[in-house]
Amino acid sequence: MTEAYPIIDHTYDVVVVGAGGAGLRATFGLAEQGLRTACITKVFPTRSHTVAAQGGVSAALGNMGEDNWQWHMYDTVKGSDWLGDQDAIEYMCREAVPAIVELEHYGVPFSRTPEGKIYQRAFGGMTTHFGEGAQAQRTCAAADRTGHAMLHTLYQQSLKHQAEFFIEYFALDLIMENGECRGVMAWNLDDGTIHRFRAKQVILATGGCGRIYFSCTSAHTCTGDGGGMALRAGMPMQDMEFVQFHPTGIYGSGCLITEGSRGEGGYLTNSEGERFMERYAPSAKDLASRDVVSRSMTMEIREGRGVGAKNDHIYLHLEHLDAHLIEERLPGIAETARIFANVDVTTEPIPVIPTCHYNMGGIPTNRFGEVVTIKDGNPDYAVPGLMAAGEAACVSVHGANRLGSNSLLDLVVFGRATALRCAETIDRSESHRPLPKDAGQYALDRLDKARHANGGTPTAELRLQMQLVMQNNCAVFRTQEIMDEGVAKMAEVAKGAADIKVTDRSMIWNSDLVETLEFENLLEQALVTIESAANRNESRGAHARDDVPDRNDEEWMKHTAAWIDSDYNVTIDYRPVHMETLTDEMDTVPPKARVY
Ligand code: FUM
Repeated sequence: MTEAYPIIDHTYDVVVVGAGGAGLRATFGLAEQGLRTACITKVFPTRSHTVAAQGGVSAALGNMGEDNWQWHMYDTVKGSDWLGDQDAIEYMCREAVPAIVELEHYGVPFSRTPEGKIYQRAFGGMTTHFGEGAQAQRTCAAADRTGHAMLHTLYQQSLKHQAEFFIEYFALDLIMENGECRGVMAWNLDDGTIHRFRAKQVILATGGCGRIYFSCTSAHTCTGDGGGMALRAGMPMQDMEFVQFHPTGIYGSGCLITEGSRGEGGYLTNSEGERFMERYAPSAKDLASRDVVSRSMTMEIREGRGVGAKNDHIYLHLEHLDAHLIEERLPGIAETARIFANVDVTTEPIPVIPTCHYNMGGIPTNRFGEVVTIKDGNPDYAVPGLMAAGEAACVSVHGANRLGSNSLLDLVVFGRATALRCAETIDRSESHRPLPKDAGQYALDRLDKARHANGGTPTAELRLQMQLVMQNNCAVFRTQEIMDEGVAKMAEVAKGAADIKVTDRSMIWNSDLVETLEFENLLEQALVTIESAANRNESRGAHARDDVPDRNDEEWMKHTAAWIDSDYNVTIDYRPVHMETLTDEMDTVPPKARVY
């Protein structure tokens, strides 16, 4: 029987879970609108994973050459391999410009041009004149520490507007009543107390689940906690088969070397010293979109032209760049390369390999940030009381492949959109309805079960098994056989979850228990990811199949929606892609072959 856990109750207009870029942008926007806002976060806000974002945030400001949001939109739709929703993409690219100007005014210390404008660098897949013109310089940067700069500014703004923070609280589960979200349960890691938050809206901004893979650029905290909670509350996850592998993770450690380094003139070579991207993407070369570059690198390695003792990675060259430019624009990656690869970037190449970086998929939302699901034949049914933003969500603006620097944009634009929507829809004068009697019991039962798990397999062992299956069976190159084998192996991992052993039973700073609860979140999303992948019988964006190399718009231009039950059975359905744009300022971008 579940132990009786004393509960501390709280009531807010809105509770935001997660304090990365999306969570903080939402939190601060809500507080600014006068809504009573709480932000629950398992790490100190400025340690959230957004802090690691390097290269920048896209917006067609046109500070360093001609640009407009329609070209940005075109690039984003093409980058998404026509799986992105065009109404949401239009909203994001159009709102990018005021959203970045706002950030500047809030105090983000962007790098500057000689005239004092925000500095913008080149990033992959960003062009002008609807793909016909030159490379765009569209990515607004604060050296190579843009996420760090944004996070500090957003946290300061949130504090200024009296948002309330619950720091080092681990969110356990949503409180659901008849299909409506009424709040969220959380565990204070510091003193072991349990907290029940009642709210008119809960916003999940918990980031991605990169840690389902063995090697990734994501922090150890990127365990997709919001996705796990949403799945357990009966929501689907959308498009989880689309996982981005960043071309330049440091070989061995997985640490990110920003795409901005290629934007500043860096390039890749194979063991023959060849700039092989010229063959795969004659026009964009090293600045083709990430799926294309990662796949090309993997091809080179598979064909025996990798570098190093095992011929299993690629070189990224920055030695030819002016040392002053590196000092001014890329100081962070020079330091990272020194620490994690023992490389002085001014004299030697950096050993790199495609590394899991970003989940294009997530909790499905509309462009207001409201969580949507398929209900009674309606593919866009909005779930009352529940929103999501940032990497946790799938709006979908990235479709099958995200363009670099569109993620910081996504979290700013849609974090802001959730706040605006709440301001419009929440009646501040309406009193809060009482919660059902058993509110939160589901979360407590689950916590208690994990805390007393007394099987034979340590959580870390099972997590490693899961990560290796995902790395080997659901990475850059996929075939039906490889993915089916992965599905079978993941079923074994899921079976193993019944045999987990948690050694530490305390409620205070119990990392064994936190990791076990995080593992459940990861496991559910790994299962949904690999089954969604095995089910998609085409190649599109990051889902590249050796055995079915072509995109098939006729049958597969649709979003995957995948649910999981408490026995880890996955159910899959599909929702249509929104092809229509929001306004007549931009026409639908019709599908065509994607070449760079
Ligand atoms: O390469 C980078 O700086 C990463 C940026 C992004 O993922 O958007």
